[in-house]
Amino acid sequence: MDDELIDLLGEGAHGYFAGGAGDEITLRENDHSWSRLRLAPRVLVDVSERDASVELLGRRRPSPLLVAPMAYQKHVHPDGELASARAAEQTGTGYVLSSQTTTSPAEVAAVAPADRWFQLYVFRDRQISLDLVAQAKEAGYEALVLTVDFPVAGWRERDRRSGFKVEHPIALNPEGPALTTEELFAMHDPSLTWDDIGAFAEAAGMPLLLKGILRPDDAERAVDAGAAGVIVSNHGGRQLDTVLTGAEALPPVVEALAGRADVLVDGGVRRGWDVAKALCLGASGVLVGRPVLWGMTRDGQAGAAAVLEQLHAELDSTLALLGCPRAADLDESFLIRQ
Ligand SMILES: Cc1cc2nc3c(=O)[nH]c(=O)nc-3n(C[C@H](O)[C@H](O)[C@H](O)COP(=O)(O)O)c2cc1C
Repeated sequence: MDDELIDLLGEGAHGYFAGGAGDEITLRENDHSWSRLRLAPRVLVDVSERDASVELLGRRRPSPLLVAPMAYQKHVHPDGELASARAAEQTGTGYVLSSQTTTSPAEVAAVAPADRWFQLYVFRDRQISLDLVAQAKEAGYEALVLTVDFPVAGWRERDRRSGFKVEHPIALNPEGPALTTEELFAMHDPSLTWDDIGAFAEAAGMPLLLKGILRPDDAERAVDAGAAGVIVSNHGGRQLDTVLTGAEALPPVVEALAGRADVLVDGGVRRGWDVAKALCLGASGVLVGRPVLWGMTRDGQAGAAAVLEQLHAELDSTLALLGCPRAADLDESFLIRQ
């Protein structure tokens, strides 16, 4: 599969989209840690009707799945974010637009589903971030996802080797010459602290989620600072190598928050049964990243939609075979941790 994607994307872009930090230990562990959890199905349950819906930010949604925010999608396919957003809309999947988007929030809003969230990075020039929040608000995004695990870029050796350059992310470099990821990431504000969160929550005027939480004490602090939810994430293994995985970090965060806020998770979710496992561990939503990009690489919107359709179908099959027809009823009794 990698060879095919390298052929389609070129070595530099492929390295950026597929790669992780350091020795990519966390990148690999993300996938493995879901596989290590064993499911314990219940038999002789009437599963003729299945319901994958969950409650998220106080609203019932048909599915727990969301497309994770991912930068620079025009480098994956010329339709860029419009392809992934349309695929989400087509398949009843939630959508999170990255602030490193190559398509404007308003253009994406015109094609994306109703449960559309906007992800924010805080840049050294904070006005750029505040302008993005204003655009997201204007275009009717439902929630703001503030990513807090990116004070500086992870140590990404594939990008260091390739010198991959990015064309025209709309917020940072709409018109100038292409910049390396190193140049772009140097614009992130490494001085961001808890003291700043309130100002962004206020500017947002919509529910705030903090993304990139791995510790229960940080999760509690996020909720104390006004967050309606947290996204347990190691950024797809792209930031600090050898950190714990979403599957490992999720249970203590769920326990610490005890229902005070929504907990979502991402990283290495590749199959519908991985989604079910996340729900068993207490997640109320699950984000999927790279598989959507690989679908787009092959066939734009249709390719991304095929990936999302399969994930939904696998989740439906899991609910039936697990003897738990309602996703909202999944709990730890269906899991054995190894
Ligand atoms: C190419 C790429 C770009 C990303 N860009 C962003 C981003 O702009 N903002 C953000 O919060 N997370 C970003 N992420 C992290 C994803 O939102 C998500 O946490 C991660 O990809 C989930 O892991 P998975 O790809 O294994 O499903 C990016 C991930 C990838 C692979």
